[in-house]
Amino acid sequence: MKILITRRTFPEAIKILEEFGAEVLVWDKSESPSRSELLDAVKDIDGMYAHITNEVDDELLSKAPKLKVISEFGVGYDNIDVTSASKLGIAVCNTPGILSESTADEAFALLATFARRTYDLPNIVKNGEWGDFDPLGYLASDIHHKTLGIVGMGRIGSEMAKRANGFNMNVVYHNRTKRDEEFGAKYMDSLDELLSVSDFVSLHNPLNESTTNLMSMKQFKLMKNSAILINTTRGPVVNQEDLYEALVNGEISGAALDVTVPEPIPSDHKLLSLDNCLIMPHVASATHDTRMKMALMCVENIISGLRGDFPPYCVNTDSIINNSRLKN
Ligand code: DGY
Repeated sequence: MKILITRRTFPEAIKILEEFGAEVLVWDKSESPSRSELLDAVKDIDGMYAHITNEVDDELLSKAPKLKVISEFGVGYDNIDVTSASKLGIAVCNTPGILSESTADEAFALLATFARRTYDLPNIVKNGEWGDFDPLGYLASDIHHKTLGIVGMGRIGSEMAKRANGFNMNVVYHNRTKRDEEFGAKYMDSLDELLSVSDFVSLHNPLNESTTNLMSMKQFKLMKNSAILINTTRGPVVNQEDLYEALVNGEISGAALDVTVPEPIPSDHKLLSLDNCLIMPHVASATHDTRMKMALMCVENIISGLRGDFPPYCVNTDSIINNSRLKN
C-alpha cells in the first residue's frame, strides 16, 4: 500500500501511517510538485494526502488506477474534481470543524487590525513620526456596536459570530438557508441588504461556480464607503480587479485578504501597492495545534479508506456508495 503526502508534514502523522503498514512517500522538497512530477508520483499510489496546490482533475485521476482515497489537508477541496473522483469510486475527504475556530480567530484579528489600525500606526512610531498629542489624529473605528455581515454561516461563520458577540457587535448573516441556530446573528435574505448595512463584511462561503466573483463592483458599490472587507475563504470569491478599483475610488475603505488569486500573489501586484489593503499568506488555519489536528484527521481519513471503510470525513459518500473502490 502506497500513500503519497504531497507536502511535508508532522512526523507524528507519518509514523501513524507507517505503523498502519503503508509505504509513505513524502514530497518534502522546498516547492510543491510540478504538474508533471505529480502526475508521475501518483501512478501506483493507493492513498493521496493532498493539498490546495494539487490540481486533482480527470487527467491526474486517470494516471492513478489504484487510488482509493484522497484526503485533503483543509476544509476547502475546490482543487479536487469531486465529480470525476466519484465516477471512479474514489473517496474524497477533508478536515472540517477542527480549523473553524483558528480561521475565525484570524478573520476577527484582521477585522480588529483594520478597525484599530494596528497594521499602520506602529509604523508611524517606528519611523519617528509620532507627533504631538492630537485629539483628531490617528482616528480609528470602533468595533463594538458596529455591524458585522457574515456571508456563509457554516462552521467558520458561526465561530465568527460568536467572536463578534463578545465584542458587542451587531451581527447579520446571509446564507443559502436560514439557520435554526443563529449565534446572535440576524438573517438577511439578500446579500445586497447585508452589504448595505454592514461596517465589516467577512466571507465564509465555499468556492464554487455560484460564489466565484461573488464580490464584484456591483457588490462593492452597495457597501458603505467606510466598510472593510475580510476574506479568509478562497481568492476567486473576490474579483480582484474590481476590488482594486473599489479601494482606489473609495467605494469601500479597506480590505484584508488571507487568500488571493494567484497564491502566492506576486510582490508587484497592484493590490500590494495600496495602503488600505492588507494581505496575509493564506494562514488562517496555520497554528501549530490546528495544523497538527488537520494532519491527524487526514491520516484518519486515509487509514479508514484503505481499511475498506467509508472515511469519517468523506464528502462524496452518497455518490460512491454503489461503485466505491474502497472494498477492492
Ligand atoms: C482550508 O482548510 O480550506 C484552508 O484554506 C487550507 O487550504
